[in-house]
Amino acid sequence: MSAAPEREIDIIDLKVAFKKLFALRGVSFFANKRDFLGVIGASGAGKTTVLRILTGQIQPTGGKAFVGGYDVTKKRRLISLLVGYVPQLEHLSLYYDFSAIENAQFFGRCFGMRPKEIEERARSILKILGFDEDLMTKKVEKLSGGERKRVSICLGMIHNPPVLLLDEPTTGLDAHLRHETLNYLKMLNFQLGTTMVIISHDLEIVDYCTRVCLLEGGNVSQFGTPAELISTLPGKGESIRLVLPRMSSVILDRVTALEGIKYWARAGRNAVKLFVDDPRERMIYIVQRLNEMKLPFDEISIVEADFFDYFQVKPWKARENGGTPH
Ligand SMILES: Nc1ncnc2c1ncn2[C@@H]1O[C@H](COP(=O)(O)OP(=O)(O)OP(=O)(O)O)[C@@H](O)[C@H]1O
Ligand SMILES: [Mg+2]
Repeated sequence: MSAAPEREIDIIDLKVAFKKLFALRGVSFFANKRDFLGVIGASGAGKTTVLRILTGQIQPTGGKAFVGGYDVTKKRRLISLLVGYVPQLEHLSLYYDFSAIENAQFFGRCFGMRPKEIEERARSILKILGFDEDLMTKKVEKLSGGERKRVSICLGMIHNPPVLLLDEPTTGLDAHLRHETLNYLKMLNFQLGTTMVIISHDLEIVDYCTRVCLLEGGNVSQFGTPAELISTLPGKGESIRLVLPRMSSVILDRVTALEGIKYWARAGRNAVKLFVDDPRERMIYIVQRLNEMKLPFDEISIVEADFFDYFQVKPWKARENGGTPH
């Protein structure tokens, strides 16, 4: 039995204890079909534990987890068909002496697929992942880090699972390769309709996500679409960007103490983003006050708030503490 049928993944009040330590303390979130869900958190937050539950590697202490409407604790065999898994360290799953296609043959056989079927499937995925004939047939040891990552993504997808779980797929790659990998994942998500669950400690992935779950110390601190979360900030997605000729803590204190400023976030060396309820109206007041205080500024404008601001401001912490976090 599960909740809403469009939910590909449904996690309800999940608890996982290792002896006395609770790695997950009652975690709930979901992903709909075709979602690109980012599960973000610091080291030890419980991210990998969530994946280990979803792949049936460990049993929950309490709560429920469903994939495709099936209880992961009851339908282990079926779940392995529904879920593809890309581990954090691809060298643990790849045979370096063999090509991408040959690696796929090993993996596909575990799912009872026929060699011809495996080859066709591997080729179609690798094509979406930007591989030409040369890359498909070259030994993995001769591939670059980003290319190897794509081979391991292909292996996770070989049995055509509706859900792909990826543990830190961008860790250890340089900025260019991180974006390249995320773009390829987005392409698979778009072309094959695969629901993606991406574990990361990097906020960068949020730009690609349709839904985000922030884990903190075994709890979900935030869950929603990026736009939903950003719109909870005062200004509902807009903020005032103020650029000063120079910045010091004294100047910053004076600026951020102005009436109506609910939160602020640094936005570069000499710039600050101010979060107020009605940015367009408040901006006029702020300009007046800066003039009165004889505080010169280079530029003031209305800009869109992004997830980096949201994460810097941490409005949920302020709500918990009953004040601003700064
Ligand atoms: N098998 C285990 N036995 C005991 N404690 C464990 C076990 N697996 C995980 N933990 C603990 O549970 C907590 C969450 O671990 P988890 O691996 O889920 O974190 P994570 O968010 O993936 O961190 P990282 O970003 O470092 O990979 C940590 O405090 C960890 O020490
Ligand atoms: Mg982990």
